[in-house]
Amino acid sequence: MRIAFFDTKSYDIPAFEEYGGQNGMKFKFFETKLNEDTADLAKGCDAVCVFVNDTVNAAVIDKLCSLGIKMIALRCAGYNNVDLSYAKDRIAVARVPAYSPYAVAEHAMALLLTSIRRIHKAYIRTRDFNFSLNGLTGFDLHGKTMGVVGTGKIGRIFINICRGFGMNVIAYDKFPAEGSGIDYVELDELFRRSDIISFHCPLTEETYHMVSKDTIGQLKKGVVLLNTSRGALIDAEALLEGIKARQIGAACLDVYEEEGDVFFNDFSGHIIADDVLARLISMPNVIVTSHQAFLTEEALNNIAETTVANLLAFSKGEKSGNELC
Ligand code: NAI
Repeated sequence: MRIAFFDTKSYDIPAFEEYGGQNGMKFKFFETKLNEDTADLAKGCDAVCVFVNDTVNAAVIDKLCSLGIKMIALRCAGYNNVDLSYAKDRIAVARVPAYSPYAVAEHAMALLLTSIRRIHKAYIRTRDFNFSLNGLTGFDLHGKTMGVVGTGKIGRIFINICRGFGMNVIAYDKFPAEGSGIDYVELDELFRRSDIISFHCPLTEETYHMVSKDTIGQLKKGVVLLNTSRGALIDAEALLEGIKARQIGAACLDVYEEEGDVFFNDFSGHIIADDVLARLISMPNVIVTSHQAFLTEEALNNIAETTVANLLAFSKGEKSGNELC
């Protein structure tokens, strides 16, 4: 099989070459993202391999089909960037449902601890031999209420981590897991009671702007928001206003609504055009990482292994169990 690999980063290549090579696959690595203008690069290939910020809308699907591409192999779990209803009956789509839920859950906790214990500030201070503690007061996690939205693979691991810290965990899920021992509440109750809220649900029409101008007022004053799921769960402009109004105590974001234009790229020395992102980053109580939560060695190996297995199963007319359509 020949596979056009879009949005390639240097850390993607070794594992894909290893697992793909073992199975007779040839990857053509392109740095550019997949969109209507770049789809032609896939000419001569059997499948495309894409990531979270590639565009897989109806126009791109039509173009891929006209080139004879038979499969879209997502090397990620989320698939909100794919028009699945259009893809159905036109092209096969498979994903990697889990590569390391631990990586994401652990990153969420790392962000939280960094934020509330001011580690990011302390790190910079001590490098400059500034050993003052002024302004570094944090708060204990023990005894605080954590609200978890989405109790799938990542959400549940995160719940266990929080329990290890002695937190009270409440959760909301559209499809609660019966017999899981999770204390489920309705979303508005979770918003009202939580000292910290962590988002682990997919981005859908229903979850789009779950945190918005209308819902921010329901949150506990000083709440800490953690988003390692998808940026558009939170209306970024409303978040900024909530922070300015001191309604939101801190925000830790591994994902951002408009991240497709900036994340994964080096813009140091450039002037950032996105005023909301620039203003958020300027806030002392906002931490942004650039969709990094998944980035562990374990996860990269799992991503490559599962993606190659999905491609292989498709080429043999078998089911991998990871098909979306
Ligand atoms: P999962 O599919 O195991 O769990 C998702 C949970 O969300 C399920 O329990 C589901 O019932 C629930 N859910 C669905 N619709 C909902 C709604 N309207 N309201 C509340 N809950 C709802 O997914 P997993 O593996 O736990 O991943 C969660 C999310 O994390 C993914 O959708 C993806 O967007 C994001 N992710 C982020 C990564 C990163 O590097 N930052 C890496 C991997 C995933």
